Amino acid sequence: MANIINEISRTFSEYLILPGLTRKSNTPDAVNLKTPLVKYKKGEVPKITLNIPFVSAIMQSVSDNGLAIALAKEGGLSFIFGSQSIEGQVKMVMEVKKYKAGFVESRANLTPEHTLEDVLALKKETSFSTVGVTDDGTSCGKLLGLITSRDYRVSKESLTKKVKDFMTPLSNLITAKDGITLNEANDTIWEHKLNNLPIVDKNGKLKYFVFRKDYDSHKDHPNELSDAKKRLVVGAGINTRDYEERVPALVEAGVDVLCIDSSDGFSEWQKDTISYVKEKYDGNVLIGAGNVVDREGFLYLAKAGADFVKVGVGGGSICITREQKGIGRGQATALIDVAKARDEYFIESGEYIPICSDGGIVQDYHITLALAMGADFLMMGRYFARFDESPTRKLLVGGNYVKEYWGEGSNRARNWQRYDMGGKDNLKFEEGVDSYVPYAGKLKDNLDQTIGKTKSTMCSCGISSIKELQSDAKLTLVSSTSIIEGGAHDVIVKDGKN
Ligand code: IMP
Repeated sequence: MANIINEISRTFSEYLILPGLTRKSNTPDAVNLKTPLVKYKKGEVPKITLNIPFVSAIMQSVSDNGLAIALAKEGGLSFIFGSQSIEGQVKMVMEVKKYKAGFVESRANLTPEHTLEDVLALKKETSFSTVGVTDDGTSCGKLLGLITSRDYRVSKESLTKKVKDFMTPLSNLITAKDGITLNEANDTIWEHKLNNLPIVDKNGKLKYFVFRKDYDSHKDHPNELSDAKKRLVVGAGINTRDYEERVPALVEAGVDVLCIDSSDGFSEWQKDTISYVKEKYDGNVLIGAGNVVDREGFLYLAKAGADFVKVGVGGGSICITREQKGIGRGQATALIDVAKARDEYFIESGEYIPICSDGGIVQDYHITLALAMGADFLMMGRYFARFDESPTRKLLVGGNYVKEYWGEGSNRARNWQRYDMGGKDNLKFEEGVDSYVPYAGKLKDNLDQTIGKTKSTMCSCGISSIKELQSDAKLTLVSSTSIIEGGAHDVIVKDGKN
């Protein structure tokens, strides 16, 4: 007979955190959310520490270079999706690594031979009001001039006017040479009362703009996650099939950490992939693995050399793995089991292997619960898919703005490597759905609020770090009737929703 585990498999909403003594020193600004991303030996520091405990899911509809930049600026990290060509993924990694805060690649460009009508069309299409004029009309052509709305007046007659006849020509522009620091660029902007400063290379080719309006926003990112060269940190998802070609290309592009992306990580395929990466790069390339849901799965990947282990099968919002295959485990139970194994492994081996809770975060308080249950950081898909910075379309559906969000196991993503079990009999069914999520605005605004709630809960528990949360928090199971008690109840809520 099969081994039956009688312990019920539970999820986050079945728990609450008990408040603890809040001391006067327990203020949100005193809460530290730094957390290890990769393994470290007792007494040493991890090679990468996240400034906030969030990473974005390895998904086409979530983690491209745009989201990766926005999240790293806030202290988290994205794993650029691997279900694309090696070239496409490498390009995205490079975009993040070459991004310099405050230095913006020109995204609206024309040649001197274009017309005012072209300028207006471009402005409408891109909504950028500064147009770079270059010899070939690209963002890296030779800079010849600039157009801002101060350069033209729209009339019927002026529409056919050539750009060269009304742009501000290079001879009247103040520019700076590539290599200038952001502080120096900002000083130049203030000194000359400029709105923007074009940065050109030694051949006069346009590299970036620095905008006056961005100045304040740089000061808004004190948590930025950057490497020793002050470049943003970025990860990439890989599979257990084409890693011998994909990994060297990603490493060459400057990726900081890899993660094997699979719905079932307890496999010899993952062990082989980890061994390949560790041997090829003498242990210097970091690689996470998963997903697992129990002690055995964790220990297998830990011993195989994984730098972190992801936990979660079947709990993702777009996931239908449990329905299709009947495998999985309630996310809370899985996490508690794996966290226990991680702590015991640390005591035995002196090696701390962080665990990532992947999928199933619905309410912000689930984040605090997951951390208290032992997660070192969380991977989220649905959460990030809702923001301006995610790569998918924003649509108006039924009078509400939504963003598209689809699973890697859906027909739309066609990421079959993630689910491939090897052999000749290839996949015949989907493990994910194609969906919409409510549009929620800017990543930073939402993250600020989520982090605010997490810190506030931690203050209520008298806790000021994730380590303390893991060791000192008290959690309780809730009954179904107490869940009802937890929301607004027995009142008529004025917005008419209840
Ligand atoms: P969410 O944060 O609840 O939306 O879950 C995101 C997680 O779901 C990802 O990080 C993956 O682990 C998982 N996932 C992504 N695509 C699929 C799919 O198509 N089927 C099952 N799980 C998926």
